[in-house]
Amino acid sequence: MRKKIVAGNWKMNLNYDEAVALYNDLKNGVELMDQEIKVIIAPSAIYLSEFSQSKNSRIALAAQNCNENKNGAYTGEISPSMLAALGIQYCLVGHSERRAYFKESNELLKLKIDALLANSVAPIYCFGEVLAEREAGNHFNLVKDQISKALFHLDEEEILKVIFAYEPVWAIGTGVTANPDQAEEMHGFVRELLAEKYDQSIADEISILYGGSCKPSNAKELFANSDVDGGLIGGAALKAETFIPVINGFRE
Ligand code: 13P
Repeated sequence: MRKKIVAGNWKMNLNYDEAVALYNDLKNGVELMDQEIKVIIAPSAIYLSEFSQSKNSRIALAAQNCNENKNGAYTGEISPSMLAALGIQYCLVGHSERRAYFKESNELLKLKIDALLANSVAPIYCFGEVLAEREAGNHFNLVKDQISKALFHLDEEEILKVIFAYEPVWAIGTGVTANPDQAEEMHGFVRELLAEKYDQSIADEISILYGGSCKPSNAKELFANSDVDGGLIGGAALKAETFIPVINGFRE
């Protein structure tokens, strides 16, 4: 059975006091929850060190980005081995904001994936189309390209460590959510790609999250789809009052 996962991407939000307050609220809120659901947060990198020292937390930590190199003269960057040394288990790779604003290509993302896996940090690989590509009917081809170029050099053992996150760019921060059928259709397509490249049992083990204006009012119907294994949440992850109900979207 593949894992159910809800991950909160805090992006470049929350100053120190706000971040600590939210982290504490979430720890208290999540402690009593269904252990079956994995909860991850990706705060700003400057908070990872402190949060990683928290004891007995059911909340796993993710970085929002890393550099693809081992170490060296890359001012401002963070290496996968630095994350691993703090016990950070996950790292977002290829978020659409990084693809758009920092010009990250599938070829670069492939290097980041390799660097993370070499340090036993699990990549959360984000992909998805902009509206024009969907309107042109090119969204399946584009997603196939994003996935195959960055990931399909991995062997079976490696691909099983990757969490997939479909984030249609037109749904991110816009309030417009992919409807459950659109999400299921793309998630089903991705699982088929994985079955073709690897095999069905591997495809069935990999969690595929949905991201894009996922909130308490729509989480339940999105998560009810058989190929939607959870969510990558932006705006609604910035408050415990909205993030916890999204996690509860898995409940009846
Ligand atoms: P929103 O939930 O704010 O649309 O953001 C989604 C996202 O980009 C998560 O990575």
